[in-house]
Amino acid sequence: MDGRPTTGWDSLTASELQIVRLVAGGVTNKQVADRLYLSPHTVSTHLWHAFTKLGISLRVEHTRLPVTTEGGCLVLADDDGAHHSAPKARRVPTMKIVVIGGTGLIGSKLVKKLGEHGHEAVAASPNTGVNTLTGEGLAEVLKGAQVVIDVSNSPSFEREAVMKFFQTSTGNLLAAEAAAGVGHHVAVSIVGTERMPENGYFAAKIAQEKLIEKSGIPFSLVHSTQFFEFARGIADESTVDGKVHIAPVLFQPIAGDDVAQAVGRTAVGTPLNGRIEIAGPTQYKMDEFFRKALAAWGDTREVVADPQARYFGSVLGERSLVPGEGAQLGTITYKDWLDQSTAK
Ligand SMILES: NC(=O)c1ccc[n+]([C@@H]2O[C@H](COP(=O)([O-])OP(=O)(O)OC[C@H]3O[C@@H](n4cnc5c(N)ncnc54)[C@H](OP(=O)(O)O)[C@@H]3O)[C@@H](O)[C@H]2O)c1
Repeated sequence: MDGRPTTGWDSLTASELQIVRLVAGGVTNKQVADRLYLSPHTVSTHLWHAFTKLGISLRVEHTRLPVTTEGGCLVLADDDGAHHSAPKARRVPTMKIVVIGGTGLIGSKLVKKLGEHGHEAVAASPNTGVNTLTGEGLAEVLKGAQVVIDVSNSPSFEREAVMKFFQTSTGNLLAAEAAAGVGHHVAVSIVGTERMPENGYFAAKIAQEKLIEKSGIPFSLVHSTQFFEFARGIADESTVDGKVHIAPVLFQPIAGDDVAQAVGRTAVGTPLNGRIEIAGPTQYKMDEFFRKALAAWGDTREVVADPQARYFGSVLGERSLVPGEGAQLGTITYKDWLDQSTAK
């Protein structure tokens, strides 16, 4: 016997609590199984044990729990009572999750999504008084945080500046997390960083990843392909004498909303102490993608398929920018994303 009570929330094992929390957050049994590398049967068994200890009788094939949020906690509420006979409301503990760069493109989406799932999601950036380069405000914001997600970005992409940003800010952040007892550090990197170490920005992301891997803090790295929102920046950077020079290599960009979804799910799960790769639902030839995209933007620049075209200074191979097998794919297509963006 480990001294744990046999009923009630305190009786749940860490795995049972984590699975209940995920299911309560709207994740299906199948998705929980994929996320935690368990079989769906094992997930059902854990859920069955957890509900038994909590006094809930629920059909194991029931994949979603009715939830509401209240006072920073998720509340499992009875639905029609036909399938289970739980007491009227049960609280699932939620987490304080600090989002470094929480005012940026991905960060602001994450803060919103995590908040909708009942977590205390705190945006931390210079605009909210937290600066990872100087350390200002870090200790205060990390008090009581279980998870930190780092989606900050360097204000300058110049080689030395970007390296200084990711090395200094990641070092400061990890030291502050160790002092605060944070249990999970999540960071977003780029698919293929290791294939282009000569690229200044990619070298800085590799340095960031190495600091995280050797920090001793449980971590998850989410390697993403290029965001749809970044496509115009790529086109502008690739323009020479008014023509957009793009290498005819594979390209699989992803919507920022899909990135935030994958990062949020990773953050509330068990630390991977490794990486996942994420990408958009469609793989293109990069020059073809930009030809279609420029046409959709009403941009009359010609797109030239140029095998020697540089991507932020680097020559690309056929698969430099695309993930390997087993990547998690988003669901939002570029066409849907464009339609939504222009509808706003
Ligand atoms: N763009 C892509 O296609 C792509 C692909 C894969 C991975 N990524 C990675 O995704 C991450 C997020 O990118 P994003 O486009 O969402 O970034 P973003 O919109 O440029 O936002 C950057 C965020 O970093 C914050 N920040 C800047 N300096 C800071 C400092 N000293 N301390 C704390 N926070 C600071 C900014 O805060 P303020 O608002 O206060 O200035 C802002 O919230 C980056 O790490 C990037 O490497 C990007």
